[in-house]
Amino acid sequence: KRPAGAPDSDLARPVTKVGVVGAGLMASQLALLYVRRLEVPVVLTDLDAERVERGVGYVHAEIDKLLGKGRISSDQANRLKALVSGSTDKSVFADADFVIEAVFEEMKIKQQVFAELEEIVEPTCVLATNTSSLSVSEMATELRHPERVVGFHFFNPVAVLPLVEVVRAERTDDETLATALAVGKTLKKSCVLVKDAPGFVVNRVLIRLMSEINAVADEGTPVEVADRALAPLGLPMSPFVLLQLVGPAVVLHVNETLHEAFPDRFTVSDNLRRLVDAGKPGLWSWNEQGQPYLDDDTAAL
Ligand code: 3HC
Repeated sequence: KRPAGAPDSDLARPVTKVGVVGAGLMASQLALLYVRRLEVPVVLTDLDAERVERGVGYVHAEIDKLLGKGRISSDQANRLKALVSGSTDKSVFADADFVIEAVFEEMKIKQQVFAELEEIVEPTCVLATNTSSLSVSEMATELRHPERVVGFHFFNPVAVLPLVEVVRAERTDDETLATALAVGKTLKKSCVLVKDAPGFVVNRVLIRLMSEINAVADEGTPVEVADRALAPLGLPMSPFVLLQLVGPAVVLHVNETLHEAFPDRFTVSDNLRRLVDAGKPGLWSWNEQGQPYLDDDTAAL
């Protein structure tokens, strides 16, 4: 079913090559999804060659897992692997029709990435952003062709969660939006058209929950108690586990954006800030029953 407000699907342009900017957690998962569902060449880039290698390695390993689970044949696995490549040079995007960025969650960095891409790709190439909370319109303001910029926001783990928030920015044209929605359909995702507002819809609600439960921990309630108290809500996963899954730095950035936009509603947890500043991989340790607890090192931060 076409989302309400979506343009005519006939306006969608074909996508025969995909670019992914970044080779981190989200970018690598996106590369896997695109190659698996679109079966077109997918190239991912990062400034750091080691990260590129790790990103491509992740996609290959996940393809092997799909083969191991009998979800794809060995021919298919080989074909998919051959379609994925990596580079430190964005000029490999010259013939791409659809490039999605999943770089660090900072406006200036994302604007710079799009400005660089404009020098490389054709004017009709869609420039999509996987931003979690930043303004898609602002990302496009300085571009020569802001009409081909669209928000395309996925959720972690990308292979499992069915939703994509699609954001029509101020200048996004119908062809771009139709192309993004057609891609979303081929990816077998459920697309919702959302307003270009801080945190869109999902993060606006989810980060409120996470910022509140972190505030509870800041105020001295042991993490394991807070975690157990939430169990009756039937969430798919403890918010503390989710924090590790999404990554504390990402959560902090989204939280800060939402705090700036809605200071009366969003707090920023001291524990979360200290955790990210200290570069610790996680706030909590896990006991043998899989429950979280604040370890001594973290408590002393
Ligand atoms: N990566 C890839 N695949 C994963 C995975 C991961 N981290 N975790 C689970 N899976 C896969 C498993 O391999 C399995 O696949 P299979 O069916 O092919 O074998 C399938 O998911 C189910 O695995 P489990 O039985 O272990 O999974 P559960 O039923 O316990 O569900 C979950 C795991 C899907 C992660 C579920 O707990 C969940 O939905 N958690 C909430 C996640 C969430 O809220 N994400 C949104 C985060 S916000 C975000 O990303 C936005 C950003 O902007 C901040």
